[in-house]
Amino acid sequence: MRQLWIVWTLGILTLQECFTGTEYNGVIILEITPQNEKEVQCLQNILQSWLLDIWKPLQPENINVKATVRVRIPSTALQLVKEDLLHCSQSLEILIDNVKHIAGNKTETKETRSKKSITEYNYTTYHPMNEIYDWMNEIAKNHSDLVTQHLLGLTYESRPMQYLKISQPSVRHKKIVWIDCGIHAREWIAPAFCQWFVKEIVQNYQNDQRIRKILQSLDIYVLPVLNIDGYIYSWTKERLWRKNRSQYGNGTCYGVDLNRNFNVSWCTHRSSTNCSSNSFCGSSPVSEPETRAVVEFVESRQSDIVCFLTIHSYSQLILTPNGYSAGLSRNYNESLKVAQMAASAMEKTHGTKYRAGPFSKLLYEASGTSQDWVHDLGIDFSFTLELRDNGSHKFTLPEDQIQPTCEETMAGVMTIIKYVNDKYFPNKAPSTVFDCSINILIFNTVLQFSVLFS
Ligand code: ARG
Ligand code: ZN
Repeated sequence: MRQLWIVWTLGILTLQECFTGTEYNGVIILEITPQNEKEVQCLQNILQSWLLDIWKPLQPENINVKATVRVRIPSTALQLVKEDLLHCSQSLEILIDNVKHIAGNKTETKETRSKKSITEYNYTTYHPMNEIYDWMNEIAKNHSDLVTQHLLGLTYESRPMQYLKISQPSVRHKKIVWIDCGIHAREWIAPAFCQWFVKEIVQNYQNDQRIRKILQSLDIYVLPVLNIDGYIYSWTKERLWRKNRSQYGNGTCYGVDLNRNFNVSWCTHRSSTNCSSNSFCGSSPVSEPETRAVVEFVESRQSDIVCFLTIHSYSQLILTPNGYSAGLSRNYNESLKVAQMAASAMEKTHGTKYRAGPFSKLLYEASGTSQDWVHDLGIDFSFTLELRDNGSHKFTLPEDQIQPTCEETMAGVMTIIKYVNDKYFPNKAPSTVFDCSINILIFNTVLQFSVLFS
């Protein structure tokens, strides 16, 4: 049997048992017992390429058939490592151990507490990055049927950029909607919206026909904070910090405006080559690890992405491409129509006025934006949303406006996603119990035949 049995062990272990001096709490240990030589090799390759911390045996060369391997996995890399191991063997089986009998009561109390904390998560205050990281872990853990967490890349200061993939299991090949928030550090309402969005979906997808229909054909990828280093800096050092935190000019200045760093008319319009400028475009297109992470993802899923939304504040605008010329973009008429529909859905919610139109016309000229780069790749529905307000509080939108802002933005974003879904997947009503049972029947028959003839 070509099977690799993996036992995920989540427990409270102290490294002190093995080494003295350093103490860690709550590490994730992976136990793997390879069943044959091929699996041993595969395992060795993956453990080495990930530079994982192997606890037993001490060297990857000493991994043997039928001998249990213990590896420590950084929680941020868990999902990807798992994916890699699945590539290793098609017949790989993963036993997700429920921890309880291994870690005992301690873990049980921890789990109950964290479950409670996510239902009590306050979506109407701003959260520092460590709380957003915890929130991502919790939401993926508590809604594992719908939400999974993946590593997009690392920031300049080596922090993991994690995104949430909202996806209903399906045999159908689905298209992708991308939503990122917080490319500009000080625009705190943006990450607050991304969190709100995920909450709304997980709370309502079972009963809301519109969401159910969308999730039948679309997966939604949400990156709650794109510019993590900058976001943290805006919490700890300088509230109005905008850029990332990469060093330039031998440490004389910091930060690139990540929304000027994409490879589209790079550094030509209202961008600066001076690293102390707030619109510094970087040393070259995609010079920053944060932009690179987004670019790598978009390029790898280019043919599946049908809609790209990037959330900013402030000015109350739904912007179509592009930022670098006065010319009209490829599918301008349709884009504008969708943006106008979104703006009026937003206005209907609480009466807040939003305007729709081209970036360079309604905001200012800007080259190298993610929206334009994505649109130039051929993705038709690419929008920048500038949330509240209209200039009274600017980037420091009071917390009592988080809820109404998120509610109206939800209406706008859902309008856009629904339009895109109806366009790419016309006439697909939500499947009924009957559809499901037919699907299961067909699936089982195919399965039985393939087993019979294999
Ligand atoms: N989010 C955009 C940015 O940071 C717009 C900010 C509003 N600024 C303005 N001048 N209206 O560039
Ligand atoms: Zn912005």
